[in-house]
Amino acid sequence: MSNPQIDLAVIGGSGLYDFPGLQNASRHAVDTPYGPASGKVVVGDFAGRRVAFLARHGESHSLPPHRVNYRANLWALHHLGARKVVGVNAVGGIRADMGPRAIVVPDQVIDYTHGRATSFCDVDGAEVRHIDFSEPYTGSLRQELLAAARHAGVAAIDGGCYGATQGPRLETRAEIARMRRDGCDLVGMTGMPEAALARELDLAYACLALVANFAAGCGDEAEISIEEIFAHLAAATARVPPIVAGLLKS
Ligand code: HPA
Repeated sequence: MSNPQIDLAVIGGSGLYDFPGLQNASRHAVDTPYGPASGKVVVGDFAGRRVAFLARHGESHSLPPHRVNYRANLWALHHLGARKVVGVNAVGGIRADMGPRAIVVPDQVIDYTHGRATSFCDVDGAEVRHIDFSEPYTGSLRQELLAAARHAGVAAIDGGCYGATQGPRLETRAEIARMRRDGCDLVGMTGMPEAALARELDLAYACLALVANFAAGCGDEAEISIEEIFAHLAAATARVPPIVAGLLKS
């Protein structure tokens, strides 16, 4: 069933498994040509508009980053009528001003992932599309997100390069040092191939990156604690609904 009424889709990352405040919600299990999505898409009213929400890791966080069916997720949202998608991603900060609880709207990506299904073009008979990916995120949606954060009184950093790693383990200090030399400002495990698949479907797509920790070797701690990651993430996640509300008003 397709629903052309969806104003915005939100893909929730670690720490965001449902969308607080979504009213009159209905849950849609979408049959996709790529297999099952991460779960049901929840469609409801938020800030007077129609919002679709999908938990990237499943509602009980049962899917690690390399096992997320990114193609099915984006296909399902597109099928339900979404044309604008915000991906919320937990990340580690590499740049000094991107410490725990910072919120960043990145403008570039370097993809270090491997073995993931990265394109809709790799099934027999599919049209081969070489999408332009010079700017991996939709510029107008990035600007809308930044304006929405300003309106909500939430500080958000404009720009930064997201390095997408395979996970599920965190990185070594040497890996992060290399990523820094490459120009990465943030590191996360789920930003790709999501952004590229969105572009293949002509979806407007931007990333709202929530910094959970300093990446390996970038902070004072010798080790990264998962408890701390989730505590920082919870604090940053609480600021997502006001930003989305601002986005829907723009
Ligand atoms: N590395 C990769 N992904 C992450 C991190 C990190 O340090 N923190 C949260 N997601």
